[in-house]
Amino acid sequence: MIEPNWKSQPAMPLLHRSCSTPGLRRSKRGMQSMHSHYLDAPLATHLTNFTRSGRCHNFHAVPWPAVLDAASSEFAQHYRALLGADLSRIDASWSGSAVDSFFTPHGPLADAQQKTAAAFGADATFFGTSGTSASNQIALESLRFPGAEVLMDCAAHQSLLFAAEAMTVVPTPCAGSVENPRVDVEATARLLARRAAEGRPFDILVLSATGYDGRKLRLDRVLPLLVTSSPTTAIVIDEAWSAMHAFVPSLADKTALAVASSLPLRAPVLVTHSAHKTMAALRQGSYLHVLGSASDIERVRLARYRIHTTSPSWPILTSLDLARAHAAQFGAREFSRTISLKVKLESMLRAEPLTARMLVSSTGDAYYDFDPMVLRLHVGSRSRDIRDWLLREHHVLVTIAGDQLVVRLHFGVTDHDLQALMKGLSLLESGFGSQSNILPPTGLQDFEPSIGSCSREYIIPYPPGVPLARPGELWTERHAMALAQERARGAEIYRLAAGGSTRRATSSDEISVGAVLNPSAEDEHA
Ligand SMILES: Cc1ncc(COP(=O)(O)O)c(C=O)c1O
Repeated sequence: MIEPNWKSQPAMPLLHRSCSTPGLRRSKRGMQSMHSHYLDAPLATHLTNFTRSGRCHNFHAVPWPAVLDAASSEFAQHYRALLGADLSRIDASWSGSAVDSFFTPHGPLADAQQKTAAAFGADATFFGTSGTSASNQIALESLRFPGAEVLMDCAAHQSLLFAAEAMTVVPTPCAGSVENPRVDVEATARLLARRAAEGRPFDILVLSATGYDGRKLRLDRVLPLLVTSSPTTAIVIDEAWSAMHAFVPSLADKTALAVASSLPLRAPVLVTHSAHKTMAALRQGSYLHVLGSASDIERVRLARYRIHTTSPSWPILTSLDLARAHAAQFGAREFSRTISLKVKLESMLRAEPLTARMLVSSTGDAYYDFDPMVLRLHVGSRSRDIRDWLLREHHVLVTIAGDQLVVRLHFGVTDHDLQALMKGLSLLESGFGSQSNILPPTGLQDFEPSIGSCSREYIIPYPPGVPLARPGELWTERHAMALAQERARGAEIYRLAAGGSTRRATSSDEISVGAVLNPSAEDEHA
């Protein structure tokens, strides 16, 4: 996301300090020659230079230290003490029972997870330190059995698709376009009900409830419909982008856990949250919640044992505990504060003709609406160049969805960030050059499936990591246009064979559909 300007940056001089470690002791001459060298660590050098001009105005995901400014000073002290100056004291390999067992906790980690489950309304919560990508994988692994059939949200994040590869996957009927897919909720309910009536219900339904672009499923309408259509189907709900909604009174009763716990469930519901995206957790901090029986919870525990790293990060785990406590105490207040910032931003944008044009009304439909903390600004086909320019020239980080900038007014955003964004946007006309000087990624990007053929692979623009096509999907003009647009915007395009193989296909390969069926194949069973 941050463009690599590192080549033009001067290298970082080594810090001058005495070394008492025997292995690092140097003679006076040795030290002198060491000081005349530069640190040969390109990433460290880049980040040192990049962060020199202060905190980036980040409108993508919560930069957790920003909550230090926004929340109470008392709370900030806890963060600073544990995750600032003293980070090295807790970032250790606490194996065995030094702190608690990660896989079978019974001490402070067990307490922290229980408090988190209670705060979200789950029967159990598991902390994860490998992102929601891994939590999604654990969720599906816990439900996997030979021959399991999965009805998969047609706009699912890649992590869910990869995790389901060992099973038979049927994409949900899709109501949106190739470039903007969304579940056709009513057709999905009909498909679930028909399969249940035929005595072969789907084993698992996967829903992608909230996306990086702010679009979200209206779970209060969607879940009752889908659960009653097929009551024995287990459900995995990816709510990566809305963990903190559970702490906002006006949003809490529409979250997956709140809605699901009011339904007569006959199968487990697993919900994943990227805590690090919307709460005050360190990067990769993720919650995996379970609504279900003791044996459902045990299956998740064992799946986590299989998949999660055996070296969990204790700073991340600690931040997951702090983030829950922070959200419980300050969530509602912080939400009101960020909504006021959004209203202020909208009125500043309206005040200038150039920026007023960017405001678009994000209207949902019966089953989708928008995260109230996200503002989308229509800037046209140069969205990527504008995004890069904002970062380069104004230290402002936003993401893009098609022709729009996605501005997330999360917990960490301050008035100061707003001013920086506004300044950048209002200078667009005068300051923004005609072309980006950053070339789109090259390499394995240069391929083109032929129209009318079946895609052999996943074709995934990243970001956002939602496939344009899956193995077996018919490649149409619409796909080709969507791929061309993604390329023009400079997205990285990944192509991966199904079944865990990353082998690159050659023109002599047979077309194989693999385990991923397409919806029309499913219809043939009717
Ligand atoms: C919908 C969705 N699910 C899951 C993930 C993966 O989350 P993480 O980055 O925590 O691994 C993402 C990442 O952006 C996402 O957008």
